Amino acid sequence: MTQKILVIDDDASLRRVIEYNLQDAGYQVLSAANGEEGVVLFAEEAPALVISDMKMPGMDGMQVLKAIKARSPEALVIMITAFGTVDVAVDAMKAGAYDYITKPFNRDELRLTVAKALQFSGLTVENRRLKDELADKADYRTIVGSSKGMDRVFEIVRKVADTEASVLITGESGTGKELVARSIHHHSGRCNAPFVAINCAAIPRDLLESELFGHVRGAFTGAIKDKTGKFQLADGGTLFLDEVGELPLELQPKLLRALQEKVIEPVGGTKEQRLDVRIVAATNLDMDKALADATFREDLYYRLAVIPIHLPSLRERREDIALLLRYFCGKYGAGSVVFDNDATAALNSYRWPGNVRELENLVERLLIMRSGETITIDDLPDKVLQGGMVSCSSINSGKVVNLPDGGYSLEQLEREVVTEALERTGWNQTAAAKFLCIPRHTLIYRMEKYGIVPTSNTTT
Ligand SMILES: Nc1ncnc2c1ncn2[C@@H]1O[C@H](COP(=O)(O)OP(=O)(O)OP(=O)(O)O)[C@@H](O)[C@H]1O
Ligand SMILES: [Mg+2]
Repeated sequence: MTQKILVIDDDASLRRVIEYNLQDAGYQVLSAANGEEGVVLFAEEAPALVISDMKMPGMDGMQVLKAIKARSPEALVIMITAFGTVDVAVDAMKAGAYDYITKPFNRDELRLTVAKALQFSGLTVENRRLKDELADKADYRTIVGSSKGMDRVFEIVRKVADTEASVLITGESGTGKELVARSIHHHSGRCNAPFVAINCAAIPRDLLESELFGHVRGAFTGAIKDKTGKFQLADGGTLFLDEVGELPLELQPKLLRALQEKVIEPVGGTKEQRLDVRIVAATNLDMDKALADATFREDLYYRLAVIPIHLPSLRERREDIALLLRYFCGKYGAGSVVFDNDATAALNSYRWPGNVRELENLVERLLIMRSGETITIDDLPDKVLQGGMVSCSSINSGKVVNLPDGGYSLEQLEREVVTEALERTGWNQTAAAKFLCIPRHTLIYRMEKYGIVPTSNTTT
């Protein structure tokens, strides 16, 4: 089998030299001219090895390394460093790079480093591949995102995956809670044991207990034989308690006991069973409210949320929208399809109440309905255009401002409008100016006038 190598370097001539040399040595080579593109290609193509330059404009080699490692801790990465920058190379190795190669290097050095790395990881990679083939269809390896918010999520996932700690994932519907739960299991020492999911909100209350803990024959009318519960099925592995916020109050003590003492008792049974199950739970309910309303026990909450992970909504990480659009086009076999500027702008400023799931469904639909390789604003559904960014010529005269009765300062209003436009466009001045239908210099003038600067967790 030909092995795939991804080369990420902004220097086109060096990239071509590496490409040529590795192809000549029998590898299949993919290349990316910058870090961002590289990370997307990595997610799409799952290459056996990545060779990345350290110094690149935009996302540099270290950021690429971290992004790749956060998604795939076992990824094999070789860094290209400039002569005399050993410190940087050492940092990269600490961050998980397998090796580095110093510029200038010759053909043999390159091939040897590559061969050594692939040989070393051959066994692990092969194991992983076989296991992936057997694993269920959900593509839990690919969690797309390069926003600060998702980076934080990847960081926590990486740190907690291989521990026993219970994890509670919160976030709006469609933000990827189940994907993250699967990823935690997949990156844990339990990955060869089952990942069992149960949706606490979807099962009728009186059946839920036996679904979770099993029952013995004769436990209740209709219990004609013993039933194995999800807990038993997940023994040695991970139990994903989805919508845990909806767990009926009367079942909560039993779950607490299972968590604390690691023993369960099937319904109608008299014998306790000792089990080894790691719990990952998720909910899109406001848990603070559930605690305040006493619909959820505080002691159970703290047991479940040893490690809380909050998934940001898509509108809080608009910079991921473009990545996700590309990723899903690829996933649905239409990697060459592009979105024109107006369509991109509209999608960037849409609210996405259904988050990534909504975006994925929309892409799937657009790809089926499209007439060519370019998606334009005309292809987008009305709901995306209403309240989204449309080209200025097509704005209709719907009213968007409701002034308070006591009056309002025009300057304050202008400041708020400019700030929101910048936030919505990820502080991209060109896009924000377009959003406001003003020239960029006018926007910059307003920003200076009101002293509007990016908040600390955004970039220009
Ligand atoms: N960051 C992401 N990268 C790639 N795909 C994603 C991402 N986030 C979500 N998805 C996809 O979006 C869909 C919804 O994700 P998931 O089921 O994990 O969401 P959820 O938070 O559990 O939603 P709900 O609360 O409605 O159950 C899935 O098809 C998932 O693969
Ligand atoms: Mg879910």
